[in-house]
Amino acid sequence: MNISTVSELLKLDKTLIDVEVKGWVRTFRANRFIALNDGSTINNIQCVVDFENTNENLLKRITTGAAVYIKGTLVESQGKGQKVELQVNTIEILGDADPEEVSKTILQPKRHTLEFLREQAHLRTRTNTFSAVMRLRSSLSFAIHEYFNKNGFYNMHAPIITGSDAEGAGEMFRVSTLDPKNPPLSEDGEIDYTQDFFGKETNLTVSGQLEAETYAMSLGKVYTFGPTFRAENSNTSRHLAEFWMIEPEVAFMDLDGNMDLAEDFLKYVLKYILESNKEDLAFLEQRLIQEDKTKPQIERSTMTLTEKLRFVIDNNFKRVSYTEAIDILRNSKPNKKKKFKYLINEWGADLQSEHERFLVEKHFKCPVILFDYPANIKAFYMRLNEDEKTVRAMDILFPGIGEIVGGSQREERLEVLKEKMAALDIPEEELWWYLDIRKYGTAVHSGFGLGFERLVMFATGMSNIRDVIPYPRTPQNAEF
Ligand code: 4AD
Ligand code: MG
Repeated sequence: MNISTVSELLKLDKTLIDVEVKGWVRTFRANRFIALNDGSTINNIQCVVDFENTNENLLKRITTGAAVYIKGTLVESQGKGQKVELQVNTIEILGDADPEEVSKTILQPKRHTLEFLREQAHLRTRTNTFSAVMRLRSSLSFAIHEYFNKNGFYNMHAPIITGSDAEGAGEMFRVSTLDPKNPPLSEDGEIDYTQDFFGKETNLTVSGQLEAETYAMSLGKVYTFGPTFRAENSNTSRHLAEFWMIEPEVAFMDLDGNMDLAEDFLKYVLKYILESNKEDLAFLEQRLIQEDKTKPQIERSTMTLTEKLRFVIDNNFKRVSYTEAIDILRNSKPNKKKKFKYLINEWGADLQSEHERFLVEKHFKCPVILFDYPANIKAFYMRLNEDEKTVRAMDILFPGIGEIVGGSQREERLEVLKEKMAALDIPEEELWWYLDIRKYGTAVHSGFGLGFERLVMFATGMSNIRDVIPYPRTPQNAEF
């Protein structure tokens, strides 16, 4: 006989059949009712033990957290809350869980804070909240690959170790095999990286974009989906030092096409989970409703989780130029009343998350695509507009999240790109291969980067990015 998953069993409409299942005991009540979960669904299956005919020592080992192998008969449930339950014929303990030890952990079935759950990240997917979040994360990942596959994109694996700094932000993790206590020095006393593993300085990638551009300029439509690393010391609820990014890059596509692609793509993946992860979403929605009740009235959400997802799917994203956005912000109440931490006084100011969230949550009340940013607050590779002040950049802002996507049309003109690099002191030798693309059949091309964890945050309603990635890496924290 095959081992069934809990999910399969709960879907069966046949009863009085013999089945086998393996899983972990969530609770064991009245020496009789096991709530069993195996991760295949948010729901547990109730397994009813005939305690009068079960060895007492065995009964004692049915404890919260224990792994068990049950053979039994699926029957219609007498109790409420479930259609079917399992009448246990035999139960084997595959792995014990000592109640004394379990009582110190998050396995103990009661409410725990998210902070406490984070301290036991290796156990937290045994809880409803985290198993739901991680199943949704997995579904979103699948939907992303499915979207690009259906639309003629090739998946490209960009390198993790790079010799260039794509964003020019200088916030990279160094990769080296030199002895930190005794590195080889050159004549002028600097560390001699020619003796390092790669014969040069190398880092963990901050973005696969530059490499993706070279592939778009031969394969046409490509996307990367990989880990990226940023050593920025920002300890916020939206930043990780290691996060996953999706970066499509398309030849012959301009910024308008880029906005259309991003909007269509985001709607597709959110629609996918609405249809495929109903139970997990329903659980997370209830969780948020409960959480909201503990908040003051004004902080409460006006929409439920599924309403928020629906809202994004059903409405056009508002497309607004940076210049228009600055006008709105300059004349906004929080700016006039000096409520913003960073006041908006003039054109050219970089937008902070407080400004982004004002635009999305208070002013437009829908997802916003900001475009045509000032050249000097954006990366070197973005295409310069005719006004020579702004670049063809776009950021997508989501309610509750702020920036979720950053992208641009790329500078395809060799001379303009070289000038820009010179002005920013970016050595041509380092990016000769990137410049080459502009020498041999250059063309308009564009792409964007979606921060995967920010998408998972939006889709699950989790408010801290540490709670949507299995093992978060943040400043001072690389446990597990
Ligand atoms: O805006 P960013 O820095 O853009 C790029 O890296 C471009 N090369 C993308 C491209 O055009 N191909 O990052 C893209 C997205 C952000 O909008 C944000 O969602 C996410 O990546 N992101 C982070 N997510 C978590 N932690 C961090 N430290 C992040 N930094 C950026
Ligand atoms: Mg950005």
